[in-house]
Amino acid sequence: PDKNLIIAIDGHSSCGKSTVAKDLAKKINYTYIDSGAMYRVVTLFAMRNGLILEDKVDENKLAHFIDQISISFRYNESKQRHETYMNDELVEDEIRNMEVSDKVSFIAKIKFVREKMVTLQRDLSKSGGVIMDGRDIGTVVFPNADLKIFMTADVEVRAIRRYKELKEKGEDISLEAIRENVKKRDFIDENREESPLRKAEDAIILNNSQLSPEEQLDWIIERMKEIKKTSKLG
Ligand code: CDP
Ligand code: CDP
Repeated sequence: PDKNLIIAIDGHSSCGKSTVAKDLAKKINYTYIDSGAMYRVVTLFAMRNGLILEDKVDENKLAHFIDQISISFRYNESKQRHETYMNDELVEDEIRNMEVSDKVSFIAKIKFVREKMVTLQRDLSKSGGVIMDGRDIGTVVFPNADLKIFMTADVEVRAIRRYKELKEKGEDISLEAIRENVKKRDFIDENREESPLRKAEDAIILNNSQLSPEEQLDWIIERMKEIKKTSKLG
């Protein structure tokens, strides 16, 4: 496949964006970038430094410290997974816990945080051949992306999927708490002023409520073939 394409996958929380993005990246040998992990790192940093109280973020202090946060991704060959680092500390599991999930949308509404993340996301994608998932990839980060997918699934399906995943990791959390977190984040993400979650006009919708990971991968590969047929690159 063409090595320079940019593929943007946006959508609701916990529907399978990173699963399909990683599967496709592996299949076509592209770089996968998890933009949500970046907002989660900033959230973890803010939590550890006491910058979040309930739903309020101390934005002045965060603005002061934000340049001290370095975010990087490495592939762990033995675990066969992408891992997120904050200032060279492995934080891949910690950023996925419920405390971080509970606060991340309050961090992600802040304008200067988004600007910094978008700059980083574009820098990491300079050479192309990138699949990035998030909330504003097709609308803000890469408005000219070659393929844009907007993913969603029924809330209940998404909550159950996330519940199973956290349970396997040993996190003791109720289905109800996960359902509430998923709904709350979708609401904040869709209604914020800065880069709200919305479908780009030219994005293709994928509702994967009834699809397995294999079926959603096949679906996206078909869409790749279509753009190759119609684009000047193909
Ligand atoms: O994996 P899940 O869908 O639960 O979330 P995520 O992709 O890790 O993103 C966590 C949170 O970061 C989202 O709920 C958004 O508040 C924020 N986010 C964002 O605002 N913009 C992005 N491009 C990616 C994530
Ligand atoms: O990245 P996002 O938050 O959108 O979701 P994810 O982390 O890729 O997927 C959430 C959970 O749903 C994971 O445990 C996936 O294995 C699972 N999943 C699924 O069961 N069926 C799908 N078609 C897609 C994802």
